[in-house]
Order: sequence, then structure tokens, then C-alpha cells
Amino acid sequence: MKNQHMKLIQILLCLLLFPCYNFAQIKLQWREQYPGIWKATVGQPEKISLLSAAGASANVAALAKLPKSSFPLNQAEIGVKLIDHKVYLRFPLDQAEQLFGLGLNFQTVNQRGRILDLHVDHYGGKDNGRTHAPVPFYVSSKGYGVLIDAARYLTVYAGTGVRRESQHPPVLYDRNTNKEWDAQPYSDAVEILVPAEGVTLYVFAGPTPMQAVQRYNLMNGGGYLPPKWGLGFTQRVPTLYTQDDILKEATSFEEHNFPLDFIGVEPGWHSMSYPCTFEWDPSRFPDPKGFLDALAKKGLSANLWLNPYVSPKASLYPKIKPLSGSHTVWNGIVPDFTLPQTRQLFKDHFMKNHLAIGVGGYKVDEVDGYDFWVWPDVATFPSGFSAEQMRQVYGNLVQSMTASWYKEINKRTYGLVRASNAGSSNFPYVIYNDYYSHKDFITALVNSSFIGVLWTPEVRASKTAEEWVRRMQSVCFSPMAMLNAWADGTKPWSFPEVEKAVNEVASLRMQLLPYLYSTFAQYHFEGKPPFRAMNLVEGFGFTATNTAGQLDATANPYAMSIKKDIKDQYMMGDCLLVAPMFAGESSREVYLPAGKWYDFYTGAFVGENQKISISPALDKIPLFVKDGGIIPMIPTRRQAPKAGEILQLEVRHYGESTGSFQLYDDDGVSFDYEKGVYSFTRLAVSKSSDGNLQGELPTFPVSKPFGYNKMVKWVYMTKGRE
Ligand code: GAL
Repeated sequence: MKNQHMKLIQILLCLLLFPCYNFAQIKLQWREQYPGIWKATVGQPEKISLLSAAGASANVAALAKLPKSSFPLNQAEIGVKLIDHKVYLRFPLDQAEQLFGLGLNFQTVNQRGRILDLHVDHYGGKDNGRTHAPVPFYVSSKGYGVLIDAARYLTVYAGTGVRRESQHPPVLYDRNTNKEWDAQPYSDAVEILVPAEGVTLYVFAGPTPMQAVQRYNLMNGGGYLPPKWGLGFTQRVPTLYTQDDILKEATSFEEHNFPLDFIGVEPGWHSMSYPCTFEWDPSRFPDPKGFLDALAKKGLSANLWLNPYVSPKASLYPKIKPLSGSHTVWNGIVPDFTLPQTRQLFKDHFMKNHLAIGVGGYKVDEVDGYDFWVWPDVATFPSGFSAEQMRQVYGNLVQSMTASWYKEINKRTYGLVRASNAGSSNFPYVIYNDYYSHKDFITALVNSSFIGVLWTPEVRASKTAEEWVRRMQSVCFSPMAMLNAWADGTKPWSFPEVEKAVNEVASLRMQLLPYLYSTFAQYHFEGKPPFRAMNLVEGFGFTATNTAGQLDATANPYAMSIKKDIKDQYMMGDCLLVAPMFAGESSREVYLPAGKWYDFYTGAFVGENQKISISPALDKIPLFVKDGGIIPMIPTRRQAPKAGEILQLEVRHYGESTGSFQLYDDDGVSFDYEKGVYSFTRLAVSKSSDGNLQGELPTFPVSKPFGYNKMVKWVYMTKGRE
């Protein structure tokens, strides 16, 4: 009896001392929302989330084609608590699991063992969660994914915290006498702090990491299919260029016989910018329509730079003012794009002054921010959403708004953006930034594949011809082949000694357009990212390792270990492995997945399930094709094919095995493919009765777009060498 009294007093004391604390574990109800995707809500989710700001709708039919799966985690091991108005989440981890994703990271691939404060920001040189697309989605090497759909600054402990009650505690070592002692002892969980009273969670089944990513992308509408011209080369001209300067620039590309499909117009087209008016400057652009028409005659379209902060000199200013936030950015007001009235005003202005006269797209700058100039976290917005929420979704809001205008006029666009977040797979935008480490740019390209975003390792300037050609090679094997000359005025031929090599790689990209466009179609219809981390390749055995760090009283007093990742090579589509070279390096290692691999240029066998060392010439970016790989190509050309053009196909086969490839085609410019106006043609190489490889006669599509000559030329790259 006495004991019972004591217990009661203890409980009452607890309730009195912690009135708003609820330590109770919350039991989640997981519901299969789409095939292989489970959703659960904790508490009261907020009115705005990353996915709601993106506004995508799932491609349920494509999701249904993926293998049926059961819930990939042990539900009993998922911990959820609501404490102090925050959600505490815990997901289990196995010993050997690696974690990928968690934002657009630039230096690391496997995020296990890291702490990330996911916060939309420019990239400041450290993988700490502050980045252009801090997507709170991770994919495990075990083949499942987890998404936390909260428009908040989330803290993710990706296998760092060690709970006293852990079922899999780390081994106890004596630091001074045992070499196994680790400053970061083994942790068996991902723990996430969500500063909100509720949140929506999603768990994605695999069974492979690629399939978990596919489900994520398909839930967000499938990846974006760019217009064909978007996959050609693009040059961004210097600030303050006039319409005549730009037309001259276009002519110089013709004179140098260099590919060019669209031109980026940097600050200078607005009558004032930083903040922007979104109105053409009458002295530099006296005749915007005439200018755009003249570009169109050259087969080119224009992409306009902007940031969304409205100048007091803009005609939009008085109308947007009551619909904007409490703080300014460079004296411009910050539109609250969550409000339909704001979006309508922008739409009216942009449709009339830009889209109606042929503007092809936008470069949405500065939506990532830098704390010293973007709105502070104490800013308020008329919608009532907080500055923090706005920061996390602003990029998504602008992308979704501008994309919808192009959808409405049934014209595909392809542009640039500096901030994105979860839910953006279907946006017509590629992320870029002002950072410039070539190696880190490639790691960002690798990491973009885990989180449903596209990234370009843009070229701006270089110290040497070697660096120039190496950077140009990488950017030609990325989602957007772009030279951004806004500050430096560089041209592809700025280093005459490598002009030929630079032209060759840009031309090779053009030749590969049928392969690349079909790869993007895979992104759209199946959710497979076009540029892929090696860790998404089925059967790729490499595991990131931790190597012991040097003990040092100042720099590394706890001998923190160092991670080794595969972060400088990637796949373009199913068949092509890209291993870029960097200035100052004449050789490098390449990890080849299981199966035989062949040199793209010669068809020669290079290795199989192994690490190889290569010393390529300066004029070639190392490219390898998997056994049975089929690469459809077209003759080199300066511009992507226009609707109705008929091109000669050269279909290359590599290796000894049979293989097939689904060649995609449509009009290349409209959204009619969403109504079934497209074709997939199976290009296959089989073996004849005497064991010889032979290209099969494809079944050509009837009454569907197909821009190729039916006389397919087969080239056996490996067989031909023997
Ligand atoms: C930067 C942007 C650059 C360029 C420049 C023009 O913010 O990252 O690519 O557009 O603005 O002022």
C-alpha cells in the first residue's frame, strides 16, 4: 500500500514538473499510399510541407509496375516521440548499412556517421546540411528509402547518436590501450529532430536502392523530360550584353562551328536588377520580340536570369507589396508565393512580356539565400507561414509556378535554379552554384541521383587549357552542357590550343542525343535518374570504408576516421560509365561493376568487377560501356533535332553479349507525350545460329513520332576489332 502511494506521488510529481512533455512512444499507423510507398503521420502535420509546396502528383501506373514489396523495416524499431513541441524520430540501422542522399552534398557520398542540419542555403564548402537542395530523403544500401516531409530545418543524426538502451551497443574499449577505440562509436539508428508538432513520413520499398529512388521519383510525378534543345549546348553571356551583342555571340558560335541550342541572358535584360523589375531594359533590349525572333531564326531560344525580389521601380511592385514579406532583399520585396493572388500577378506579367514573345525559360537565382542578405528567420509573411518554412520551400514554389506557365502553353522549358527540395523530380530545372571545385562538382552530380534533382557542373573560367578541356568534358556529360560566362566572358574556344578537343566533346554529346534523350525518358517514365551514382548500379559491390585517421594533438586529437567513397565516377544511363579527369592528374582509378566493360572509343575490353588504372589522353573523357551495351547515335550536328526532322541512326554495340535498348522519341518540344504521342523502339542485338552478333530489324512505330531513318546502321565496336 505504501509503495503504491509512493508511485502515485511520483507520477503526480512528473506530471506537475513536465506539464507539456509527453515522453510516450507514439505508435505509427503505416498505410500503403502507393505501391511500395507507406505513409504515416505524427501529431498534427503543418499546413505547408515540402511536397505540398512542390505540388506534384504521383505516377501511380508506373509505380504499380515495380515489384510488389512488403514494408522494408521492422516497424517496432521505428521510434517516434513528441517532446517540447518537437518530433523525435528514430529509424533502425544494420551494421553494414550505408546511407545515401540527405541533400545535395559536394564532398561525401555515404552519409552514415554524419550530422546534417538540413537548411536551404548556398553551399559553403562543408557537407553540413546547408546546401541548395537539403532534401530530407535517404536511401539505404539495403534497398529502401525514408522521407521526412517537413518544411523545417531538420537535424539528422545519420548513425551518430548512441542510446543507453540500444539493443546493439558499441563495444567498450580503453582509448589508451586499444587501437579499436573510435571517437565515433558504432550507432544503430538514424535519429531526426523535427521542430514541429507534427510531420508526415514516407517509407519506400526497394528491393534495390535504385528501386527505392525510382519510387521516390515516381511519387513526385516522374523525372522531368527536357525539350530536345535543352540537351544541346548552352552559353550564358556576360552581364550587360545588349541584344546585338547576343546575336553577334550566336553568329560567332556558327563561325566556330560549335554546338549551341540556347543562350542564357544574364543580368542586364531587366531595366534594373538586384532587385529585379522583370521588364526589358529599353536601351539594351529596344526590341525584345525582334531579338527573340532573330534568335529563333538561328534555331536558338533565350533563357532569362532573374531573382524573385521585386524592385521598387517595377510595375509589379505596388501590387505585390501587400503580398510580400516583412523584410527586403537588396531593397526588393519578397513575394509570398504561397498566395494565389501573388502567383496570378506574376503569371499575368510573365506570360504577356516573356512567354508570349518566345522566352524559352528562366534561371532562378538567389532563392537559396545567404543569411547575410536573404530574409532573416524573424521575417513574417502575409500567409502566416514562418520565415523558416518559406526558406525551405521558396525554390520549390518558384519552380512549380514557372513550370505551370509553360505547361499551360504546352511548351517544354528547361532552366536553372539555385534552391530546391523534396518533391522536385518533375521540375524543369537544373541546380547550379557559385562554388567551383571541379571534383566536388562531380560528387554533387553523383549525389543528385539519390534525391530527385538535376545538377550541372557548369564551366566558367579556368587557369589553364588543361583545366578548361577537363571541365568542358565533364559538363558535356551532365544534365546541362553549359558555359556560364556571366563574369568572365569566356567562350568555348577561349583556349585555342584545346579548341578542337572542346569542340569534339560537345559534338560527341550531340551525337549521343538519342541515347541521352531516351535516358531522360527513363527518368520520366520509370523514375531512374539519368546521371547515377555507382551505388545505384545493381550489384556494385564497393562499400565505403573508414580508414583510421592520424592521431595528432592539434588537428585530429581523437583520431577521427576518414571515409573513402566512390565519388568521382558515375553512370550516364544504363550503359555508359563516365570517369572524368581533373587538371593536374594524368591518371586515375576507375571501379568497374560486375560484368565486362569496354572502352567507348575503341570497343576494347578494359576489365571486369575490378579497379583499373587509366592514363587517358587530354582530348578524351574516359568512357566505358558495359557488355552488351547499345548506344544509339546520330551524325554530329550543332543543334538538337527539330520536330519532324529525320536523322540517320548509328547503333553501336559493345562487348560479347546480346543486348537491347529502348529508343524513345516524341516531338521534342510539347507535352503531347503525356497523351501517348511518343514511341519506344526496341533496338536489339542477338546471336545468329552460328554465334555471330547481329542487329535485329526493329519493329518501327506506326503513326507515332519517330525521327529516324529506318535504315539503321549497326556498328559492332568490339567484334569489329577482332
Ligand atoms: C549569381 C549566379 C551567377 C550569375 C550571377 C549574375 O548569383 O550564381 O551564375 O548569374 O549571379 O549576377
